[in-house]
Amino acid sequence: MPNKGGTVVILVIGDIVGRPGRLAVGRFLPELRKQYGLDLVIANAENSAGGFGLTPTIADELQEMRVQVLTSGNHIWAQKEIIPYLDELPILRPFNYPPDVPGKGYLVSDGALVVNLMGRTFMNDIDCPFRAMDALLETVQPRPKVIIVDFHAEATSEKMAMGRYLDGRVSAVLGTHTHVGTIDAQIMPGGTAYVTDIGMTGPSDSIIGDEAESVIQRFLTGMPHRLSVGKGKPVLNAILVEVDEGSGQAVKIERICRYMEQS
Ligand SMILES: [Fe+2]
Ligand SMILES: [Fe+2]
Repeated sequence: MPNKGGTVVILVIGDIVGRPGRLAVGRFLPELRKQYGLDLVIANAENSAGGFGLTPTIADELQEMRVQVLTSGNHIWAQKEIIPYLDELPILRPFNYPPDVPGKGYLVSDGALVVNLMGRTFMNDIDCPFRAMDALLETVQPRPKVIIVDFHAEATSEKMAMGRYLDGRVSAVLGTHTHVGTIDAQIMPGGTAYVTDIGMTGPSDSIIGDEAESVIQRFLTGMPHRLSVGKGKPVLNAILVEVDEGSGQAVKIERICRYMEQS
């Protein structure tokens, strides 16, 4: 990473939903790179293929936009053709899936350790993310000072508990999965940057990225309704974190929200 007075600047983009989400990344990432001098760009791509999963073509497209690491979550298995690429490409699936599940849950990119974890409250009952993270921090080699965690979870309490549990041991714990950005971006007492949810990058006329009417029908009828990507102006939601390279502590956290002019 280039040294700018001993800090590195990292942008983490919230769940990219379908084509509108990819459009928003393409539209805003170049100017954000310039404006903030970004050293590392991470994006959660679990909904980037039509709202469900990620394909190799879309992974290439996002890499061409200079997203350096793709994280994911429960939807990573939705497009089967990505599975053979999970080992070789800079794509993460949650680390705390049971042993022998394809793919990897962490990698080092541009001097930073990036980890993807998934919560268990109101979600699949996978291995304990807290103990998984303890084990990883004890054993991982190399172990850079700068450590960024994408915590993909539903419950605000579980997310904040992870933030506090890792406070002082990692540089940032940033929530994904709910697609609803929260206003609690903060630096915790031990120096870990935290937000409960980054919010989604996708269509603004939607319910968490999906076309509103079909989601409402699901709630009204209790029956399955096919979901499609929503409409409206694409929005990019992201978190900017600046980290001291020497200590690994966060010195700044900022929410970024940009709407495209056209839908
Ligand atoms: Fe998502
Ligand atoms: Fe998710």
